[in-house]
Amino acid sequence: MTTTRLTDPSPLDPTTALPVLEALDLAKTFTMHLQGGVRLPVLSGVRFTLYPGECAVLDGPSGIGKSTILKMIHGTYGIDSGALLLRGPDGAVTDLARADDRTMLRLRRTTLGYVSQFLRCVPRVPTLDVVAEPLLSARVPPEDARRRAGHLLERLRVPTGLWMLPPATFSGGEKQRVNIARGFVSDHPVLLLDEPTASLDAANRAEVVDLIEDQKAAGAAILAIFHDPRVRAEVADRLIDVGVFVPSGAVRSGRVPSGAGRSGPVPSGVENEESR
Ligand SMILES: Nc1ncnc2c1ncn2[C@@H]1O[C@H](COP(=O)(O)OP(=O)(O)O)[C@@H](O)[C@H]1O
Ligand SMILES: [Mg+2]
Repeated sequence: MTTTRLTDPSPLDPTTALPVLEALDLAKTFTMHLQGGVRLPVLSGVRFTLYPGECAVLDGPSGIGKSTILKMIHGTYGIDSGALLLRGPDGAVTDLARADDRTMLRLRRTTLGYVSQFLRCVPRVPTLDVVAEPLLSARVPPEDARRRAGHLLERLRVPTGLWMLPPATFSGGEKQRVNIARGFVSDHPVLLLDEPTASLDAANRAEVVDLIEDQKAAGAAILAIFHDPRVRAEVADRLIDVGVFVPSGAVRSGRVPSGAGRSGPVPSGVENEESR
C-alpha cells in the first residue's frame, strides 16, 4: 500500500473537499491466450478525478472501455500501468494499481461500492441475505443489516414474498433491483454503477435516481455508466469521454455504434469477471 497524497482539488470544482479517486494515466491491454496470445489494447492515458458528492458519467459507444474502467477500479481487472489513487474513510490513500488482493477485499468492505451489470447469483442464499451481505461482511449486526436490506428492497419494490427466496429464478428486472439494493446498502464513499437502470420500468428507474441523489447528498462520489439519456440527464454532474482514452493502435473493428447491443459473446480473455 502506498501513502501518496492525492493532488489538490482541480479547478473544476474548487469548493469540494479533496478528491476521493484519481486516475493517472491508466492503461489496459487484454491478452487473449485462447486466441494465440493476440493482444487487444483497450485503454491508455486514462485520467480523471472524482470528488465527494458528485456523479460523473463515463461516456462513449458500446465496446469503448467503460465497464473495463469500472472493473479496474473494483479490482476485477488488473491495471497494466499508471496509478489509481483511492482515499479511504480514514484518509489513507491506496494506489489500487499496486494493491494486493487482501487490500482490495478490505477496500470493497469499507470504501468501494459496485453495482455490476448483472447479478452474480450464489445458490441457496435468500435475497435478503444477498442484499445484506456487504454489511454482514463488514460486521454490522445481522438484525441491523437485514433491516437495512429490507428497507432497500421495499424502496425498489421487490415483493416481500420473494425476500426469503434465492434470486436465481427472478426476472431480469427483479435481479437487477436486488443487485442495486446490494450495491446501495453500505453507504460507501465511492460507488461504481454499471448500467443499473438498463432493464427497469419507469417507477423503479425513478427510485434509482432518488437513491443516487440520496448518496450524492450524503457525500458519496459516484462513477456511473448509463445507457438511458433521461437518467443521465437527471443525475450526471459531468461526463468523462472515454473515447479520448482509446489507444492510437487499437483495433476498432467489432466495436459497435452507440445504442446498439454487444456484437457477440465476451471474448475469452485471461481475466475472469470474478477473479477476486
Ligand atoms: N475479459 C476480457 N478479455 C478480453 N477482452 C475484453 C475483456 N473485457 C472487455 N474486453 C474488451 O474490451 C473492450 C471494452 O469492453 P467494455 O469495457 O466492456 O466496453 P463498454 O463497457 O464501453 O461497452 C471491448 O472490445 C471488449 O471486447
Ligand atoms: Mg459496459
